[in-house]
Amino acid sequence: MAKGKVITIAQQKGGSGKTTLAVNLGVALARAGHRVAFLDTDPQGSLGRWFMTRHGDGRAEGMEFSTASAWGVGYEVGKLRDMAEFVIIDTPPKADSDLRPALRAADLVVVPVASSHVDLWATEGVLDLARRESCPVLVVLNRARAGTRLGAEVLTATQALEASIATTQIANRVAYAETLGQGLGGAEGARSPAIRTELDALLQEVLAHIPAD
Ligand SMILES: Nc1ncnc2c1ncn2[C@@H]1O[C@H](COP(=O)(O)OP(=O)(O)OP(=O)(O)O)[C@@H](O)[C@H]1O
Ligand SMILES: [Mg+2]
Repeated sequence: MAKGKVITIAQQKGGSGKTTLAVNLGVALARAGHRVAFLDTDPQGSLGRWFMTRHGDGRAEGMEFSTASAWGVGYEVGKLRDMAEFVIIDTPPKADSDLRPALRAADLVVVPVASSHVDLWATEGVLDLARRESCPVLVVLNRARAGTRLGAEVLTATQALEASIATTQIANRVAYAETLGQGLGGAEGARSPAIRTELDALLQEVLAHIPAD
C-alpha cells in the first residue's frame, strides 16, 4: 500500500476549530471509504476524548488513533502512514518550534480561521512557520456568518494573507459542538444535510490541494 497522506491542522489562536476540522475531515474521509489515522499532539487531548467516545460506541471501525508530543511526531506519523491512507494531525494552539515536526510531516496544512479579526491576526505566525517548512497551506474560514459585515470584512482581510483560501466556509452551527461531544462528525448528527454539503465540498478542496507524489 502507498504511504498515507498527512494533513496537519494548525492555528495559534485557541478555539479556532482545529479539533473540529480534524474530526470532520477525518469522518468525511472515512465516509468516503478511506482508512484514517488521527494523531493528537495537543496535551489538552480533545481529539483523543472524541476518539475514545467514538470507539466506546463501536464506531471507530477503519480508524486509528495515537498521540505524540512534539519530538515524537515524525516517528509516530511514519507508523501511521503505513496503516492509513490519510493521517490527520491535531495540534495545540501555538505557533512555535514545537509545531515544526507536525508541519514538516504534512502534505497539507489546514489553518482554520474563526470569523473574527482577532483570529485573523493570530494567523500570520502559523503561515510563516509553514512557509519556512515549504508546506502547502489551505486557510479555511470557520464559524462563518454568511451575510454579516464581519464575515465579509474577515474574508477580505484573509484574501490579503498570501495563502490559498478554501472557497467552502464552515458555518457557525450548534451541531458541530454537539456532535463533537458525542464522538461523531457533524455529518453523522441529526440535522445533517447542510453540514454534509459543506463538509463534502471542503473535503474535495482539501484533496485537491494535496500535492500528488
Ligand atoms: N463551525 C462551528 N460551529 C459551531 N461551533 C463550533 C464550530 N467550530 C468549532 N466550534 C466550537 O468551538 C469550540 C472550539 O472548537 P475546537 O475545539 O475545534 O477549537 P480548537 O482550535 O481545537 O481549540 P484549541 O485551540 O483549544 O485546541 C468547541 O466548543 C467547538 O465545538
Ligand atoms: Mg483543539
